[in-house]
Amino acid sequence: MTDQGQSFHNLQLTDDGQLRHFLTLDGLDRQLLTDILDTADSFIEVGERTIKKVPLLRGRTVVNLFFESSTRTRSTFELAAKRLSADVLNLDISTSATSKGESLSDTLLNLEAMASDMFVVRHSQSGAPHFIAEHVTPGVAIINAGDGRHAHPTQAMLDMLTIRQHKGTFEGLKVAIVGDVLHSRVARSQIRALNELGAEEVRVIAPGTLLPRDVESLGCTVEFDMNRGMRDLDVVIMLRLQKERMEGALLPSEREFYRLYGLSQEKLALAKPDCIVMHPGPINRGVEIESAVADGPQSVILNQVTNGIAIRMAVMSMAMGGQLADRNRKQSEVVQP
Ligand code: NCD
Repeated sequence: MTDQGQSFHNLQLTDDGQLRHFLTLDGLDRQLLTDILDTADSFIEVGERTIKKVPLLRGRTVVNLFFESSTRTRSTFELAAKRLSADVLNLDISTSATSKGESLSDTLLNLEAMASDMFVVRHSQSGAPHFIAEHVTPGVAIINAGDGRHAHPTQAMLDMLTIRQHKGTFEGLKVAIVGDVLHSRVARSQIRALNELGAEEVRVIAPGTLLPRDVESLGCTVEFDMNRGMRDLDVVIMLRLQKERMEGALLPSEREFYRLYGLSQEKLALAKPDCIVMHPGPINRGVEIESAVADGPQSVILNQVTNGIAIRMAVMSMAMGGQLADRNRKQSEVVQP
């Protein structure tokens, strides 16, 4: 494990290995990832009930702190918290005091003074949720909803749930991640999850300009030619071009990118016939994916969105449970010197 992995590991887990924050998949083992998937599975049924609520976070306050734009992630975190019966506060950063120059630490101190129990954080700076977890009052759980290029662990886990639902197991699977890997926190978390859960091959398919320098060390093979890269695939995951994170010209043109790396019906036909098509969204039709594929029979893109609620319910309830266990342990240490 890297030093960074080690420090995330200590911060994220209680002494007996329960989740208390959810910042990255680094340092989390196969058993814990499987526990998250199994817990999420048990919440899927809640979403199918007429009354979609369980009381696990009743009386708790969850604050959604999104410093970057989001549609799916923010709304599914909100729904997940509500289905767990928590009170939810969505802080709109564009109208909050952050826009008047308040620092992240000061915003947090004020939110903590309102007796919040959990912060769900999205930030353009890699490491921001980790920084908050290091400084927050004990007992408050921090959930990473995407930080810079670093990690998007709930997205990767909802993707793993979707793959497990369609393929049954990770053993023997060949999975490709296509497009802007360089700027993608989603890709980094997916590669980590797929390796830990035992996928046979994780392949990234992209032009050299959209790959990080050390990409193989993340645990994947590299293919520059998409027609070759599509062979034998069980799962193909498309990524959005993260133009907001690009500095300088990394691409000749969107048209050229689509011709070489866009997922068309012709390219999909090169994969296994039961290959599923995934995308974390938002999708750009005609830039990284053809409409006929995005809306086609092999697409599971909307299943991913639905699964986001169950995964976020799982992670939130597990982290709150870990915080509670931590508090009980510390209290019993005080009582019995
Ligand atoms: C992703 C993100 O924000 O990292 N989207 C998401 O959370 N569903 C991917 C993206 O923005 O392209």
